[in-house]
Amino acid sequence: MNGFIERNIGVMMLLIVIGISFGGMVEIIPLMSQRVVTEPIEGLEPLSALQLEGRDIYIREGCNVCHSQMIRPLRAEVERYGHYTVAGELVYNHPFLWGSKRTGPDLARVGELYSDEWHRAHLLDPRSVVPESNMPDFPWLFETGIDPTVTPLKLKALQTLGVPYSDEQIATAADSVAGKTEADALIAYLQQLGTILKERR
Ligand code: HEC
Repeated sequence: MNGFIERNIGVMMLLIVIGISFGGMVEIIPLMSQRVVTEPIEGLEPLSALQLEGRDIYIREGCNVCHSQMIRPLRAEVERYGHYTVAGELVYNHPFLWGSKRTGPDLARVGELYSDEWHRAHLLDPRSVVPESNMPDFPWLFETGIDPTVTPLKLKALQTLGVPYSDEQIATAADSVAGKTEADALIAYLQQLGTILKERR
């Protein structure tokens, strides 16, 4: 019996898989049933149709590759970015955009930090407002309109995932994005990020 597991790679692998699975279950399953991670914080509303379109552009353009949306509960982060991220802020996010790389700053609480004008200038040419910036510019967002025909379907899809959109919001979704550019939508999305928890930088 002495050294049996070490000398039998199959048994070793099986035990490793069981060990890791058990560890994972112990960590993950209790989280699924804890209200603090499954219930929205007070005042949380689903994104408006325009903001939701903006979020899709954020994903399409890969903003989340350079920007995280997750303030960790560490003093340096809270002093720089504001209140650390809590799970209840994110229950309507499908998928999450926490990110794992910060080429640029975290954006979890960037909402209302700058004016819409600032964002427009920054997206057109980041160097015009932050001379040392190495963020790319996104001029095409100002030239392309949002396609209103798919917007209601997006809201509907989220509704099936449990995001509390009303049927009225779905019915008026197309009208509320008609005539808007991709930049309008993206800025509407950025301007609400993290604003629900008031304590900010
Ligand atoms: C190649 C990496 C990269 C990509 C991709 C990128 N950014 Fe940035 N972003 C940066 C860097 C670096 C900064 C810091 C300098 C600056 O403010 O321009 C920044 C700053 C910002 C800021 C200001 C944050 C603050 O707290 O001052 C916002 C808002 C922002 N980016 C939004 C976006 C959006 C929206 C997109 C996608 C359309 C995007 N970024 C894509 C690198 C990136």
